Order: sequence, then C-alpha cells, then structure tokens
Amino acid sequence: MIEDYAKHAAIWDWDGFDNSEEYNYWRKYAEQYGKKVLIPMCALGQIGAYMANSGFHVTAFDITKEMINEGKKRFNTVPNLDLRVADICDFDFPEKGFDFCFIATQDLHLLTNIEMVRKAFKSISGHLRKGACIALELVLPKFESYECPVRIFHPRVPNYIDKNIWKESKNRYDSISKKQYIEQIVYIQDNKGIESFNYSVVLQYFERDEILQALSYAGFSVIGEYTDRNKSHWTMSDKDWLIEAIKQ
Ligand SMILES: C[S@@+](CC[C@H](N)C(=O)[O-])C[C@H]1O[C@@H](n2cnc3c(N)ncnc32)[C@H](O)[C@@H]1O
Repeated sequence: MIEDYAKHAAIWDWDGFDNSEEYNYWRKYAEQYGKKVLIPMCALGQIGAYMANSGFHVTAFDITKEMINEGKKRFNTVPNLDLRVADICDFDFPEKGFDFCFIATQDLHLLTNIEMVRKAFKSISGHLRKGACIALELVLPKFESYECPVRIFHPRVPNYIDKNIWKESKNRYDSISKKQYIEQIVYIQDNKGIESFNYSVVLQYFERDEILQALSYAGFSVIGEYTDRNKSHWTMSDKDWLIEAIKQ
C-alpha cells in the first residue's frame, strides 16, 4: 500500500533519536567493499545522506515519490547523494558498478511474493560490479500465528517543535499465509488541533530456500548467514536472518 507511505512522508522523521550507531554499522560494512553504494527502499534517504556526508557516493531510491521529494528537501546540500524514484523490482539506472547494496530492517518483506523478490535481486545484480556485496536483513516465518494488542508509540526524541506526533499500532501474524498485518493510526497535533490518518502495511515472510534460490538466480553467492549485526552465527532455530552475498 504505497499511498500509505505517501501520507507518511512529511513526518517520516518524527523520531529525532540519534541513529548514528546504526548508520555507522552500515558505513563500516560498506567500507569493506568500496565507496559506491546503492540503497533501495530508502524512504527519505537518511542513511544515504549520512553515508554520502562520510565520503561515499550514494544512489538511494524509493517507489514513493513523496518520500524522495521530502528527502530532497532535507538533504539538498549533501554532496554525492543521488535520490531517485524507482521500483526495486524493475529499475535501470545509467550508473552501474556499485560496490555495496543493502536492504535493512525487513524492508524486503514489503514485496508481496517471491517473484517480486527474484525481480528485485535481478535488477540489483545488474547494477553491481563483480565481487560486490548485497546485505539483507530478513525475518524467517514463525510457526505460530499471533495477535498483539494495541500499543501507543511516542517519539523517543521529538523531532519537531511545531507539532506532536504519536502512533497507535496493532499487528497480527498469520502462520498459514506467512503475512504480518500492521495497522496504525498516526496522530498529528499542532496549533490547529489534531489530525489523524490510518496506515496499514503487510509484511510477507519467505522460506530460507526461496530466498537462497532467488539470490542464486540473480547471480549471488552467499558467504555469510548471521542472526544479528555482530555477525553471530545463524542457526536453524533463529528467526532473525542476515545475509551477506557476493555478485559472481
Ligand atoms: C519501512 S520504509 C523504509 C525505511 C528505511 N529503511 C529507512 O531507513 O527509513 C519502506 C519503504 O519502502 C518503499 N517501497 C515499498 N515498495 C517498494 C518498491 N517496490 N520499490 C522501492 N521502494 C519501495 C516504501 O515507499 C517505503 O518508503
């Protein structure tokens, strides 16, 4: 539901929490492979802007034009940051030969079927040099369905002085379809009153074999499977699954 991200774009950075630890993780990871970085599903491009400010040449893209427009407003003075509107399943940029590509925090699960994932990997592969890396943060399907009650989220560090934002969120997971349904109401309070909009998103989880086959089909070979950002060895019982794969 891309229109939901469109509504979200102007307040995507509602939480001003200092994410530099996460951003540094990606910076150090990329450094092992080179300076040309490709970031799909980037939203505003915050990590991309951080990396570009640290000396990388970054192309970051998102299918939601409102996200990219907001990103351009925030980061228009950042050197070597190219923000684009594109679909991860079908893109063809003039620049190729990227050294490093990453899809963080379950974003790939926004693709609704494995065919879309195969197309995404193939499109990415066409933009990477031989020996370049793709790093993915995924979650494997859980065996049991569950439902989480409504929770209210406030920003850890409010990022705006002219408005308050909070979110009401509930989610449920269906182990048959391997889908997680997240439903939120986003509230925006300013000096005119309170406005809200509904936001819902479905995450599709995939079996490990499906992802490994899709990577292989796109010309990647997996060199590491981890269960956290410290690169702890992944085991069959772990649901958090981080992959490091190399373009052949
Ligand atoms: C959870 S947000 C990404 C958050 C981002 N990783 C960050 O650091 O802020 C997911 C993003 O994926 C984008 N997206 C969804 N489907 C896409 C597609 N097919 N191609 C490119 N971007 C897509 C959405 O527009 C949305 O901005």
